[in-house]
Amino acid sequence: MLGVYLSGTGNTKHCIEKLTYLIDENAVVLPLENENIIDSIKNCETIILGYPTQFSNAPIMVRGLWTEKLSSIPSYVDSETTRRAQNALETITKQLHACKVQGVLSLYNGLTKEEKEEFLRLIR
Ligand SMILES: Cc1cc2nc3c(=O)[nH]c(=O)nc-3n(C[C@H](O)[C@H](O)[C@H](O)COP(=O)(O)O)c2cc1C
Repeated sequence: MLGVYLSGTGNTKHCIEKLTYLIDENAVVLPLENENIIDSIKNCETIILGYPTQFSNAPIMVRGLWTEKLSSIPSYVDSETTRRAQNALETITKQLHACKVQGVLSLYNGLTKEEKEEFLRLIR
């Protein structure tokens, strides 16, 4: 598995590292600017690509990656690839769910006794 990110201030880098290593602890995570990135992408079966939203769109560098540099990859996607993508999506969704639950639990544990009581009153 390969994690690829474009990140200006580090948010996307942090998220992609977390997510990719959660799914596959032996994965490789590289910045989009890495000089061998095209070969790394071509040699990898599962790729997680992360980028920050810019002007309600993917950044130009990311759009350029797929449309220009990887144009030799066939545009069709066969059923096996679709099945693998679906499996990856399910794994990612489960991991994100687990992260969200852990996040809420950790926030809750950080509350004072009074805050916990108020929180419990509010969610009932
Ligand atoms: C030029 C630019 C345009 C942006 N446009 C949007 C946008 O349209 N919608 C949005 O929600 N955030 C937008 N953002 C905010 C970034 O997506 C957000 O700060 C992100 O977490 C930055 O990730 P990074 O630290 O990996 O660079 C924009 C940021 C920049 C620098």
